[in-house]
Amino acid sequence: MKTYSKLLTTLSLSMSMVLGAALPAWASPDTSVNNKLDYSTDVVYQIVTDRFADGNSSNNPTGSAFSSDHSNLKLYFGGDWQGIINKINDGYLTGMGVTALWISQPVENITSVINYSGLNNTAYHGYWPRDFKKTNAAFGSFTDFQNLISTAHANNIKVIIDFAPNHTSPASSTNASFAENGKLYNNGTLLGAYGSDSAGLFHHNGGTDFSTIEDGIYRNLFDLADINQNNSTIDSYFKEAIDLWLGLGIDGIRFDAVKHMPFGWQKSYVSSIYSGSHPVFTFGEWFLGPDETSTDNVNFANNSGMNLLDFAYAQEVREVFKDKSETMNDLNSVLASTASSYDYINNMVTFIDNHDMDRFSVAGSSTRPTEQALALTLTSRGVPAIYYGTEQYMTGVGDPNNRAMMTGFNTNTTAYKLIKALAPLRKSNPAIAYGTTKQCWVNDDVFIYERKFGKSVALVAINRNTSTPYPISNLLTSLPAGTYSDVLGGLLNGNSITVGSTGSVTNFTLSAGGTAVWQYGAAETSPTIANVGPTMGKPGNTVTIDGRGFGSTAGTVYFGTTAVTGSNIVSWEDSQIKVKIPSVSAGKTNVSVATASSTKSNAFSNFNVLTADQVTVRFKVNNATTALGTKVYLAGNVAELGAWNVSGAIGPMYNVVEASYPTWYFDVSVPAGTALQFKFVKSNGTTVNWEGGSNHTYTTPTSGVGTVTVDWQN
Ligand code: NOJ
Ligand code: NOJ
Ligand code: CA
Ligand code: CA
Repeated sequence: MKTYSKLLTTLSLSMSMVLGAALPAWASPDTSVNNKLDYSTDVVYQIVTDRFADGNSSNNPTGSAFSSDHSNLKLYFGGDWQGIINKINDGYLTGMGVTALWISQPVENITSVINYSGLNNTAYHGYWPRDFKKTNAAFGSFTDFQNLISTAHANNIKVIIDFAPNHTSPASSTNASFAENGKLYNNGTLLGAYGSDSAGLFHHNGGTDFSTIEDGIYRNLFDLADINQNNSTIDSYFKEAIDLWLGLGIDGIRFDAVKHMPFGWQKSYVSSIYSGSHPVFTFGEWFLGPDETSTDNVNFANNSGMNLLDFAYAQEVREVFKDKSETMNDLNSVLASTASSYDYINNMVTFIDNHDMDRFSVAGSSTRPTEQALALTLTSRGVPAIYYGTEQYMTGVGDPNNRAMMTGFNTNTTAYKLIKALAPLRKSNPAIAYGTTKQCWVNDDVFIYERKFGKSVALVAINRNTSTPYPISNLLTSLPAGTYSDVLGGLLNGNSITVGSTGSVTNFTLSAGGTAVWQYGAAETSPTIANVGPTMGKPGNTVTIDGRGFGSTAGTVYFGTTAVTGSNIVSWEDSQIKVKIPSVSAGKTNVSVATASSTKSNAFSNFNVLTADQVTVRFKVNNATTALGTKVYLAGNVAELGAWNVSGAIGPMYNVVEASYPTWYFDVSVPAGTALQFKFVKSNGTTVNWEGGSNHTYTTPTSGVGTVTVDWQN
């Protein structure tokens, strides 16, 4: 079989590149397509389904919704799941080394053509859903979708779906005949429409001006009918809908617009995914502009249980390589600051462009910046995601120019060959997949960094200046003594290096525009945890611990100081352990491992143990008057409410859109069917003022959502 032999070629190529590995690393379970909870060894390829390949013209939309010559970028072009299947089968995707596909939201979208300012618009992008339990017929049927999953899996490729529970489609609050009135269907049965919403499925607070997080959550994003997640029908509908797609075998979920949905609902939603029968890796889109930092964004990544696309990384790489408005020193700072602010840095999904940004490549310009940004991303911390066509140097400024039809499938572009050379390293060398990052040599144009995991090391050098070579002296590395050839074989003008016994690298010249990758892989003799997935769960859930040197005989896993042994260890292999979370106190804890011969590993920090299954509850407090600058927070007796610690209190609560000052409200993920005790606190950051009286009490629902409203007690 053609694709199989291509795969073998890739594998034997990467085998020859690993020095001293005792076992072929790709035989390890941590690198397998079955590892749905840790993507550190993967390379994701993002496909706008309509724009990649048309494998079945019979499902193409017709009339004013379709642009057969691909000239009207707001109409459908005909791309579909069969087209993706064809590109897997012909070896284009496997040959590039991609191991996961992120495809457009697969669910049924509105079929209306909407006219804005004289221009026709369609749902080709998949972000105008109407029935989350059906397929978008232009992409294919459920049979086509299952064929995509099975073809992908047979070729060691995971499938990630885009998913947008924030909204349905464009709607007008005054004109029910505009488009499809935001209608939402449950497998063909109408649940409700935006203009006649007796069940309260939607928010009716107008459009957001993006001024605050609260405004962005509870008002419409543009004119998209905004779903009310604090509604039990909606909550159970979305749990059923995602179960349907999970049951079809998807391997991951990219959540759209997570900044625009309540944090608490999303935490309870992903916790139900992790507690279900098909837990998978999840990551959200929280857009950040160039140089934008956001404590809310960091809080979401560290505490929601969902990972995030790494916009801070992407924007910095674009400034350094594409716009040249910042330097390699700035890149080094961003790599350091993100590594310290994000608790689960290996799970951040890195990228250099996407469907919401100008394409990285610039018409008429050198291709080297694109190649260097890809080389950096493929060898850096986080899960790299490559936007379709970036390997073909597609250009396009703004939406929809950045979503043109795939221009071709040339397997000889330098970018394609670069991805093909570096992608297998994520599987074969754990330093690339899981390692720490250390700056070894930097100036405004040159960045040389080392990735290190246990004994495995990768050293990467990039000179972004395409006219000036740089002499490199005083470079120190953890690579063992020896001579290392560039993994890229000089594809980007890289050189070999010689390392002495003290780790000093013999002086060399890094060519203008040069990029080189040198690497060393070795087996671990002591247990070393690389990553844990997911990073949140309730006792009884199974989590995956990836690493090296665990040995072949089961030992002990520790959550804090609680030992897990026996049948609560689901499987134990040298590079992966599956273990059930024990009944320990809820909250953040360390996970560590001891081998059968009692050698202890490093600790994985901040694993978040939940009290129990989660539900979302809206907490509301009336008459909480405050001085300007003082805000109200919620504290209570469970870990999810901070276990009575003010530092862990939830908030600041909101007081503008769904309820107004002096009423404050917040949607919170709390344990289901649990008698809670709670109080509100006022704080201006210095002075903390606890509510008087006795604790409020509330028993949370066992499923669905709840609301509890109390008066502030003086
Ligand atoms: C973010 C998506 O990436 C963007 O393309 C889309 O238009 C909005 N969310 C709304 O779904
Ligand atoms: C409403 C504001 O949102 C809140 O922060 C402030 O404390 C009160 N007004 C009192 O001025
Ligand atoms: Ca088609
Ligand atoms: Ca919303």
